[in-house]
Amino acid sequence: MNSTNSNTIKVWDILIRVFHWSLVFLFFSAYITEDDWMGVHSYAGYSIGLLILFRLVWGFIGTRHARFSDFVKSPAQVKVYLKQMVGGNSKRYIGHNPAGGAMVIVLLTSLAFTVFSGTALYATEGLGPLSGTFFSTWSEDFLEEIHEFFANFTLFMVFAHVAGVLLSSLLHKENLIHSMITGLKRDDLS
Ligand code: HEM
Repeated sequence: MNSTNSNTIKVWDILIRVFHWSLVFLFFSAYITEDDWMGVHSYAGYSIGLLILFRLVWGFIGTRHARFSDFVKSPAQVKVYLKQMVGGNSKRYIGHNPAGGAMVIVLLTSLAFTVFSGTALYATEGLGPLSGTFFSTWSEDFLEEIHEFFANFTLFMVFAHVAGVLLSSLLHKENLIHSMITGLKRDDLS
């Protein structure tokens, strides 16, 4: 974590930022191509799978605020934070706040289930990297239900995620979206 001048601090490294905006692009690409563009849909899904693998590794060996140990808090701490947020008196964090940290885990987990069920579904049609494996024998209807459920659940959580980002930005008078582009945040805890 490097200070760039006395007022700003580098919070999100370049890999996190590329990871995030690639994920946004790929998620929406996969979502809108689900019916007619299976080629684009499946490659967007595999790419999301690779991004998740990268993020898991970076969560252990990455820069300070990218590490799970920096932002994964207990459910009790998340609850306290959410109460403070609703009351408009939540503490400002330089990295992810406790609710944001929980959201990262929910999004990554839900995305992982979406990618896995989609890849297994493809395998039942004799396509993709899992074709010819044990997963090809799973029920196509069941996998379709699971895949759709997790894709829609992820979309729902993305709306909640963006709402949380906007609310937190308002409460602390900072632009978190801009920070996810530049990597910089204000260097104080007020
Ligand atoms: C246009 C829509 C989106 C905006 C404006 C947005 C904005 C942001 C911002 C500002 C953060 C940092 C939050 C903080 O400061 O604590 C963040 C983090 C994150 N967002 Fe989004 N986001 C969007 C869409 C998505 C989508 C579609 C996904 C996944 C499907 C996603 C997944 C994540 C994840 C996993 C992180 C944690 C980053 C990390 O630590 O690796 N976001 N987002």
